[in-house]
Amino acid sequence: MATGTEPKPSAGAYGVRSATRAAIPARHLRTDRWWLAPAATAAGLFAFIVYSTWRAFWNADYYDAPYVSPFYSPCLADNCESMRNGPNLDVFGSWWGLSPALLILIFPLGFRLTCYYYRKAYYRGFWASPPACAVAEPHKKYTGETRFPLILQNIHRYFFYAAVPVAGILTYDTVLSFRDEHYEWGHMGLGTIIFLVNITLIWAYTLSCHSCRHIVGGRLKHFSKHPVRYRMWNLVSRLNERHMLLAWVSLVSVALADFYVYLLASGAFDDPRLF
Ligand code: FES
Repeated sequence: MATGTEPKPSAGAYGVRSATRAAIPARHLRTDRWWLAPAATAAGLFAFIVYSTWRAFWNADYYDAPYVSPFYSPCLADNCESMRNGPNLDVFGSWWGLSPALLILIFPLGFRLTCYYYRKAYYRGFWASPPACAVAEPHKKYTGETRFPLILQNIHRYFFYAAVPVAGILTYDTVLSFRDEHYEWGHMGLGTIIFLVNITLIWAYTLSCHSCRHIVGGRLKHFSKHPVRYRMWNLVSRLNERHMLLAWVSLVSVALADFYVYLLASGAFDDPRLF
């Protein structure tokens, strides 16, 4: 019921204060701890940003045969430690003097930054836009993703195209982890298992992408005429239902795989060999 004390919609106002929305004075009517999820999300993402930034600029301790950190793979410049012995794609040659991680991280980073789930997560966690369901955001304006820079989120599909070969290269790195430090096949260490778990989660996250689901089964008018795509679409849809979970576990696993290589390369730990 209107009390006469409601905030007046201002001319040109967007979002919850616009003239077409109910004038409710309270910011929300929720009685649960709605702030917990966005706070935990912000803390988790912030921890990853700090860790990955440190590792990307560290520019050392990312290679210990046969393991190369997923943050530094593929190596695209001459200054890669792994260039001497490990897998490489020398695209940039010797002129690149900064950390080689900076050349490659843009792709997985762009993929996650424009991911539908992560967008929701960091819009809520960092920008409170909105902070939670049925909680009004503090901003006066809301233009969604219709203007620069957020309109760039629409390039997510292209980051998906880039993420697939990156996942393929990490798969190749995982296969190479079945070699020992002398590049002889028939080795399995704790690192091999960590790489196997990580690449499984990376693929599960990549294939659960909404863009992937649309590429596989979108625009089809008759699934009955495309039985193979229909089966693939079903598989992707099942993964897609767990996209949020896969986003988090793959984020943790890629950081753990990198940290494991850091421990080996810095001499803090020896890789236990299973055979
Ligand atoms: Fe999340 Fe594509 S929607 S990776």
